[in-house]
Amino acid sequence: MNPLNDPLRSHLPNATWFATAPGRVNLLGEHVDYNDGPVLPAAIDRAVRIAAAPRKDRLAHITALDLNETAAFDLEHLPEKVDVNGKPLPGWALYPAGIAWALQSRGLPVSGLDAVFTSDVPMSAGLSSSAAVELAFSVIWQALGGWQESPMSLAHISQQAENAYVGVKCGLMDQFASAHGVEGCALYLDTRSLLWHAIPLPPHTAIVIADSGIRRNLTASAYNERRSACETAVSLLQTQIPGIRALRDITPSQFAAHAGILPSPVRERARHVVEECSRVDRAVALLQAGDARGFGQLMFEGHASLRDLYQVSIPELDALVEIAREVPGCWGARLTGAGFGGCTVNLVEDQAAETFMNTLKTHYEKTAGRQAQIYLCHASRGAHLETYL
Ligand code: GLA
Repeated sequence: MNPLNDPLRSHLPNATWFATAPGRVNLLGEHVDYNDGPVLPAAIDRAVRIAAAPRKDRLAHITALDLNETAAFDLEHLPEKVDVNGKPLPGWALYPAGIAWALQSRGLPVSGLDAVFTSDVPMSAGLSSSAAVELAFSVIWQALGGWQESPMSLAHISQQAENAYVGVKCGLMDQFASAHGVEGCALYLDTRSLLWHAIPLPPHTAIVIADSGIRRNLTASAYNERRSACETAVSLLQTQIPGIRALRDITPSQFAAHAGILPSPVRERARHVVEECSRVDRAVALLQAGDARGFGQLMFEGHASLRDLYQVSIPELDALVEIAREVPGCWGARLTGAGFGGCTVNLVEDQAAETFMNTLKTHYEKTAGRQAQIYLCHASRGAHLETYL
């Protein structure tokens, strides 16, 4: 962007630091990051952009440009979650305040700042708009403070903010992906060992995201319910399979042998997780071999499992997947993120992408009676300071 046209700069002319932090799409490995399992997300070219200038006092004065709202809070009173007038912080401001709180809890210096940010990651759509805000503020406070943490540590700080300050018990995947994105690559992360590596997407493929337009508020409670079903499954299975610590420790054949002791729906939830972990492991070899068709098949299987076993899909997401399946050049499609609304991710032959997008849009409108937003996405770089200004 031409710096002279940058809205961040016109809103904060004395800004000294600029940063970008992307959203993410998850290609495979859904609802396994809180079961110590492997995930395969990619950072996308939709991101939060932020500009900041240091302040001499202990205030954070932050403008969310897209909402046209400003919040000011005192860095000495973060646990209270209130603004300078003692009013509860608006929901969006809990993310920067949570980052400041998590940084302070680790003894990292957090300076007062003026900041302004904008985002083109759709909100509550399963594309990790909140992780992008968290990473953007982590990177900015790191620059202002002159300290240096690894991207993995910034991801953990951001997860801590979300878990303990905002109050959503998410896993590490979203913050990890926003922090570590690599252009043109999916990111394989083992959420137990934290070992990760980037894997190039198969040649001549495009990632298409289709936003169903549905937003559900029950996501947090249903998400936490799924988490506790997984915990119940582990404690019951531990009586049969000694030494397991999480569902990721169980193979599909071990599961089949012992699943009988689990009540429904705990059994179905656990089966999804066990099989999804195995799908990710098989997917890595397919990706490495550039086998888009084989990988896409696993995406379709993953969706069916999220729909039937984990029960986090909705008819609109199912419709998007079923339409996609019939369009030539589509290798795979599934819901992405927590579910209950939001988006599907589609792996498509690049030459066919434009027709695919048009067909999906038209047929979805006919079937679901509503508009889908369809984006062509590129796997992108993770959170970083902008140096062009
Ligand atoms: C949300 C959470 C992630 C992950 C996904 C489901 O995006 O933030 O940690 O659990 O749901 O895979």
